[in-house]
Amino acid sequence: TGMFTYDPGFTSTAACESKITYIDGDEGVLLYRGYPIEQLAEHGDFLETCYLLLYGELPTPAQKADFDYRVTRHTMVHDQMQRFFQGFRRDAHPMAVMVASVGALSAFYHDSTDITDEKQRMIASMRMIAKMPTLAAMAYKYTIGQPFIYPKNDLDYTSNFLRMCFAVPCEEYQANPVLSRALDRIFILHADHEQNASTSTVRLAGSSGANPFACIAAGIACLWGPAHGGANEAALKMLEEIGKPERVGEYVAKAKDKNDPFRLMGFGHRVYKNYDPRARIMAKTTHEVLNELGIKDDPLLDVAMELEQIALKDEYFIEKKLYPNIDFYSGITLKAMGFPTSMFTVLFALARTVGWIGQWAEMIEDPSQKIGRPRQLYVGPSKREYVSIAQRG
Ligand code: CMC
Repeated sequence: TGMFTYDPGFTSTAACESKITYIDGDEGVLLYRGYPIEQLAEHGDFLETCYLLLYGELPTPAQKADFDYRVTRHTMVHDQMQRFFQGFRRDAHPMAVMVASVGALSAFYHDSTDITDEKQRMIASMRMIAKMPTLAAMAYKYTIGQPFIYPKNDLDYTSNFLRMCFAVPCEEYQANPVLSRALDRIFILHADHEQNASTSTVRLAGSSGANPFACIAAGIACLWGPAHGGANEAALKMLEEIGKPERVGEYVAKAKDKNDPFRLMGFGHRVYKNYDPRARIMAKTTHEVLNELGIKDDPLLDVAMELEQIALKDEYFIEKKLYPNIDFYSGITLKAMGFPTSMFTVLFALARTVGWIGQWAEMIEDPSQKIGRPRQLYVGPSKREYVSIAQRG
């Protein structure tokens, strides 16, 4: 036994060194490999961000073309995966399907078990980034009873994903470039966020030397919770429950009530105590998408705007530094694009995969990393003698 620092929720413990993402929560700064998120989201595309996160530098045109080509080559999933999907109930939550199907990939790629080989690690990363949209679209198509749409590799990453989600074999489909760009930006905003719960889960799972696909499945499981990635789904459900702007006040009062566990979903952040820079870009994207789709009088949007206004002016929220976070806006945008709420966290998982795998690789390459093994402060009974069952009670 020994004395250990008690730090529930790891609010003051750094478990690793990382060169990937920098956050200054007080200043509202988010940098990927030193580049501000605003600039990447404005000028780059998602695969460029993936390259940057994985390799540490922005790609040259030739590197970018090569990277896009390599990701594209891995978009198909083993055809037997189709049968794996058939085993689910149609009403299965797509996050449950994602946990399982990404975990199942570990059974298909035995070469990925050699994680000491840098080349194998990179191939596993490519496979993961490339196959997530395919699996996510399959999870969606399965729940609505439509046939799976195979990837079309002459499309860009995000248009390909939109097509796999929304095309049907009997009709021509062309992704709307404005929506495609908006979704691509959503992916960039979600690509990494240093040592959040799901990324720490992936690192912890990976620290034992486990198969990378299985580690990502663990990350997806963690992301699912409403305090983390599930917040975008929870935020939209909350807006639906509120229903009309007149009822916003009632819910704000509930959130402030000490005796009521209710929280405003899509508000607050563990690290950003000033504002969430992703939320600012996201809010702009939300308006672009709603404009493009001609959505003006959406009751959900009215509720969201009212809530945003009230909360930003309310003393409780100001004092506790609670601002709308990225999930508050992303839910509204994804819904407008036609995604059902149950898919929101799946899209988050799709985008975060690069962060997870990049952090996983960084950990494997770091000689100072050991198996993750937190300690505890034991507060249970002290040693006592066993009593046979006949003598109990
Ligand atoms: N509504 C009402 N009160 C809140 C909220 C909220 N959304 N968030 C925090 N508070 C209060 C909380 O009750 C506490 O009050 P007190 O000090 O009086 O006990 C105080 O603010 C601090 O909260 P905390 O739970 O200690 O803060 P945390 O850093 O542990 O939690 C959080 C951060 C994001 C889990 C939390 O703000 C929350 O539950 N928000 C709603 C869910 C959400 O939107 N999550 C998405 C996070 S962003 C995406 C991601 O990273 O996955």
